[in-house]
Amino acid sequence: MAYDSFNDFLIALEKAGELKRITVPVATELEITEIADREMKSPGGGKALLFEKPTVNGVVSPFPVAINTLGSHRRMALSMNANSVDEVAAELGALMKAKPPTCFKEAVKLLSLALDLRHAKPKTVKTGPCKDVIHLVESPKSKVESWPPAPDWKKPSTLDPRPSTLLNLPILKCWPLDGGRFITLPCVVTRDPDTGERNLGMYRIQIYDDHTTGMHWQLQKVAARHGRRYYEKGERMPVAIFLGGDPMFPFAATAPMPDGLDEFLLAGYLRKKSVELVKCETNDLEVPANADFVIEGYIDPAEPLRDEGPFGDHTGYYTLPEPYPVFHITAITHRKDAVYPATIVGIPPMEDFYIGGASVKLFLPIFKMNFPEIVDIALPAEGVFHNLVFVSIKKTYPMQAYKIMHGLWGMGQMMFTKYIIVVDADVNVHNTSEVLFHLTANTDPQRDSIFTKGPSDVLDHATSEIAIGSKMGIDATKKLPGEGFKRAWPPLIKMDEAVKVKVEKLFGKGI
Ligand SMILES: Cc1cc2nc3c(=O)[nH]c(=O)nc-3n(C[C@H](O)[C@H](O)[C@H](O)COP(=O)(O)O)c2cc1C
Repeated sequence: MAYDSFNDFLIALEKAGELKRITVPVATELEITEIADREMKSPGGGKALLFEKPTVNGVVSPFPVAINTLGSHRRMALSMNANSVDEVAAELGALMKAKPPTCFKEAVKLLSLALDLRHAKPKTVKTGPCKDVIHLVESPKSKVESWPPAPDWKKPSTLDPRPSTLLNLPILKCWPLDGGRFITLPCVVTRDPDTGERNLGMYRIQIYDDHTTGMHWQLQKVAARHGRRYYEKGERMPVAIFLGGDPMFPFAATAPMPDGLDEFLLAGYLRKKSVELVKCETNDLEVPANADFVIEGYIDPAEPLRDEGPFGDHTGYYTLPEPYPVFHITAITHRKDAVYPATIVGIPPMEDFYIGGASVKLFLPIFKMNFPEIVDIALPAEGVFHNLVFVSIKKTYPMQAYKIMHGLWGMGQMMFTKYIIVVDADVNVHNTSEVLFHLTANTDPQRDSIFTKGPSDVLDHATSEIAIGSKMGIDATKKLPGEGFKRAWPPLIKMDEAVKVKVEKLFGKGI
């Protein structure tokens, strides 16, 4: 059963013993971060937290804040209404195996067909709970003469007694040196002006004032590509941001879906029910009818970029201010009983480790179709998403590990990976200690490593220039003839099975 609302998901988490309620007032300025950070760093990711009385500048907000809702393997599985993410990945893999593709383009097409198979196509409905309350925001920009005229403002369906401003929301100031408050789990909807294709991505939103924000879509992301086309055409770019609704929305927004494949298709597939979409009030983009909050607006290509940041980031460091587009708000709509979803990022492990891990599991079948020798892939928490990737392979010919490195660096957001370590099939890539043992034991550093160059994550503060960097691949597999190794490869130490069984019979597993 798909979740009808974010609140339904919170109820399911509470029933499963996965949610803690915080009933005392807690400040959205730094204090929620301190509590959530401790929780996220507790074994297995701790529990989801529901702050019932978050305060904004000392005043209790009308909206509770939920955080760390996807921050464990169990909660990720619950968000998909499954026993485990592996189970969902296996099912998607089986669907795609029906007719194995011969190239990446075919794999993408097949992924789209597979997603479509289970009534995954989104459908448009007239209205929904995200329109319970409608605030129209008349920003000064919407009256600029040289732009297409501002839309005819409709009358709000319900007049809300609360102040109609973005500053009313319990948006966190996460870390002491942050440049302000940031929406940290926003699902951002944009459209390719040439093809009409929709994209859903997660790009953080810095609050500048009650009607403008930053729009932190990084250079290589799909919405940034859409944006560049609007800038080239000189047309105002409609954008819609939504929060909450089914937990599959933020998951799909972060998933590395190929450009052109609608993330709502993935969300529909995962929730086993079509996503119902409603048209925005002030532009013609569509958002989920069951979202908790919707923030509508536009980007004006004639306006100069504005510094965004600093922000305490995934990397564990602050990202320094960089210029990004300014988003102008034209409307905010929300559920009457809206819950504000948030996360924090910072020194790992954090909630995003579990979100990223689920993505890797889900997309592993696609990697395997392109590279059948791949057994497993892990992105350890220390590598904050894609800095460090462990891959295990069934190696059958010389230099195969290098083929895998080059292949991965060429696939979507794997381009950001700084270090790829390839190990043999019997190494558990989810056990970092085991990988490090094989890495140090099985390599002659100079012979078994390569350096190359490529695009890097714009958040990476260590590269000499932004978005450009080098990459290192290490072949930690057993060396084959032809790989420059001329000695005998020694066997790994292993005890006889019979002896193990006998000792276990005598002393049990505990000794
Ligand atoms: C919590 C969280 C915050 C994120 N913030 C940003 C961000 O501010 N900017 C960005 O470009 N990517 C950010 N990402 C990563 C993107 O969501 C991710 O790369 C996604 O696949 C982008 O979608 P796209 O390929 O459709 O552009 C974030 C991911 C997570 C989990």
